[in-house]
Formats: sequence, C-alpha cells, structure tokens
Amino acid sequence: MTTRRKLVVGNWKMHGSHKANAELFEGLLDAGPSNADMAVCVPFPFLSEAAVALAASAIRWGAQDCSAHEQGAYTGEVSAAMLHEFGCRYVIVGHSERRAYHAESDQLVADKAKAALGKGITPIVCVGETLAQREANETEAVVKRQLSAVIHTLGHCVGEMVVAYEPVWAIGTGKTASPEQAQAVHALLRAQLQAATPQAGAMKILYGGSVKPDNAATLFAQPDIDGGLIGGASLKAADFIAIGRAAP
Ligand code: 13P
Repeated sequence: MTTRRKLVVGNWKMHGSHKANAELFEGLLDAGPSNADMAVCVPFPFLSEAAVALAASAIRWGAQDCSAHEQGAYTGEVSAAMLHEFGCRYVIVGHSERRAYHAESDQLVADKAKAALGKGITPIVCVGETLAQREANETEAVVKRQLSAVIHTLGHCVGEMVVAYEPVWAIGTGKTASPEQAQAVHALLRAQLQAATPQAGAMKILYGGSVKPDNAATLFAQPDIDGGLIGGASLKAADFIAIGRAAP
C-alpha cells in the first residue's frame, strides 16, 4: 500500500476580486483541518492577499504560471524568484489553457518547471489529451510526450515535481473522467516516472477536470490518484473543503 498523503489544489484561474477573495479565505479558514494537504493557486495580483490571509493556516498558496527566464526584458512575465518572495509553495505550469491559448510548447513548460524548482517552488506540471486525441487513441502518446520533455529537462530533480493529469475534455465541462479512465492514465504516468527516478513511488499525481464534492472520493480512492487540481469547485469554500475531506 502506498502512503502518499493526498494534495488538493485549487486553481482559481482568472477569477477573484478583493471582496470575493476575502469571503473565500474566510470560508476556508473557518472550515478547520482537512484530511489532505490543501493549497490555492491564485492570480498574481492576489498573491499578497493569499499570503496574509493564509499565513497562520495549513493552507499553502501558489501561482498559475511563471516565466522560464530568471529576469530581464520580458514584459508581462513573472519570475519564479518573485513568486518565491511572495511565499509561493506551488506554481502550476503547462495548464492546457496556457498550452492552447498561449501556444506553450512541451519544452517551454519543462523550462518553466525547471525555473520554479530552481527557486524552491514545486511545479505542478499539467498534462492531458484533447477529446479528438482521446478518440484517435492518442491519449498515451500525448501524455507521455508531454511528461517526457519535463523528465529530460529536470534530470535528477524529477522527483520534486507534482504531476497533474487533466484531460482537456473534462475541464469545466462537467464531464469527469471515470475513476477507471483516470487511474489508467495515472498508472501510465507513474510507470514513466518510475523509469526516470527512484522517487516515483512517493511522487504525487493529481487528477483535474470537473472534480466536485460528489465525485472526489471515488477518484481519490484510486491507487495512483494522489489528490486533485480543482477549478470551478475551488471558488466555493464549502465545495473545496468538502473535496479535501473526501481524501481518505
Ligand atoms: P474544473 O474543475 O473547473 O473542471 O477545472 C479543472 C482545471 O482546469 C484545474 O486546473
């Protein structure tokens, strides 16, 4: 049996305001302890709010992207060093929305993960196939290709990242991958990590895509699903906390 503690991370995406955040943080703080490690990845302008609101709690915070560059003339970019100064524990890299809308390549995602680790921030590296790719039986090839770039770039630090499997067709659609479908891909990813690092058995592979309080427990019960990356449901304190409590 594995003893990996579950990790539940909220990805707020481009949501939030001072007022909404204050209410959400209050709801999270009122809820008390969770069975899982919990974190929220907020938009950059809200990092200082998250740091202040969550400082005394067990909930960690992070960002949703970072630059692959250390510093310099990169207008609009935010470096891993800056995230570190705001106390970020995590940064999401390679989310499918960034791959799709910002043309992020596998190698750029890998370079971002490396930049994060270089500043002591855990990258949550997202991989996942589109519906067309799944229907063409390309799921395995796609996620392996995406993960492989990161494995090669991180080298001996591979074991320090968190991986998130997010099938694009399940994001924000209400169509969750079935626990069996998700587990099958998680097992493939675990095997790929095992070939790369002796730490693979301790690494967390999160599932993301329409995770809700009523489906979290069955997903988290799968042997290679180590928690969730939660979009919509992370914006409601009660739902996000309920997902954390669904961890065994
Ligand atoms: P939803 O939970 O809204 O489907 O979003 C998943 C996601 O993209 C998390 O990164």
